[in-house]
Amino acid sequence: MRFAWNRLEHQYWRHWRTTGASAATGSARPGTAKAWGAHLPFHPELPTWAMDAGADMCLVSVHKMGAGFEQGSVFHVQGDLIDRARLKLCADLLVTTSPNVLLYAAIDGWRRQMVESGHELLGSALQLAKHARDELGRIPGISVMDDELLGAEASHDLDRLQVLLYVSATGASGYQVVDWLRENRRIDLGHNDHRRVLATLSIADDDTTVGALIDALTAWRVEAVDAQAPKMYLPHPRELQLTSVLLPRDAFFGPCERVPIGEAPGRIAAEQVTPYPPGIPVIVPGELIDRGVVEYLRSGIAAGMNVPDASDPTAETLRVVTG
Ligand SMILES: Cc1ncc(COP(=O)(O)O)c(C=O)c1O
Repeated sequence: MRFAWNRLEHQYWRHWRTTGASAATGSARPGTAKAWGAHLPFHPELPTWAMDAGADMCLVSVHKMGAGFEQGSVFHVQGDLIDRARLKLCADLLVTTSPNVLLYAAIDGWRRQMVESGHELLGSALQLAKHARDELGRIPGISVMDDELLGAEASHDLDRLQVLLYVSATGASGYQVVDWLRENRRIDLGHNDHRRVLATLSIADDDTTVGALIDALTAWRVEAVDAQAPKMYLPHPRELQLTSVLLPRDAFFGPCERVPIGEAPGRIAAEQVTPYPPGIPVIVPGELIDRGVVEYLRSGIAAGMNVPDASDPTAETLRVVTG
């Protein structure tokens, strides 16, 4: 079944929280978000697959680490703790009535490919990732993040196909690195922020693509010897937690107006604003906007931050509740 992932996730969790789990047992063994984990079940050197770890349900975007077409998200359910009828009701609120058979075919094709040759394909990709990690780590000022990510906060294991490069010591921001790679080498890296860039490798990569990445970053480093990242206001994540003063629905559907972002502190948001990455909204409708969030967004956007859902993509103005 294909669905709008975040919204189903949200529906499911809201239901889960309000009912205290979906089954009579009220077990606290939740489902998990595995958007980037479609490939995990198919190679033992990859982190444990949520369902193997005993989750009752997990959500997966096959188009991310699998070979599905975009919008090919699925959920997996096992055991009897999840009320499947309720889950289907949630999904039915969101799914299209005109499913695209190509999406289903790609999901099934990927499943078959993984069953038949997933171990071999992923094994080669992991070898390539090791090579990329070794070579990229030799570039001065670039650190390839690895074990230091483990055991911190809630982290348990690392998918080494995700090659996360910490670039601050070069003086540049992650935004500057990806812009340079796109403009000069036609290489598009999916995720980046002020300090990091992420190269996501997959079964589609080979010596040529990985070689091009190593070569490009080596060339960038020579050229960007005096790089200077624009200053960004980075409050502690706690400071980015705004207070909700109105129901999101009332804020979004009620009377609203657009104001210059500098005038937004003290006003109630009527839209959602989500820097991506990390893909977590800093503002949702109904929250009281404060100066810290505004400075974070302003300085971030000036530095290259991507805010895909803001109604004004430049975020020079924000949609706020009238009055
Ligand atoms: C953690 C996480 N969850 C959910 C999503 C959204 O998934 P989809 O592309 O299936 O809408 C993303 C997308 O990047 C993600 O990173």
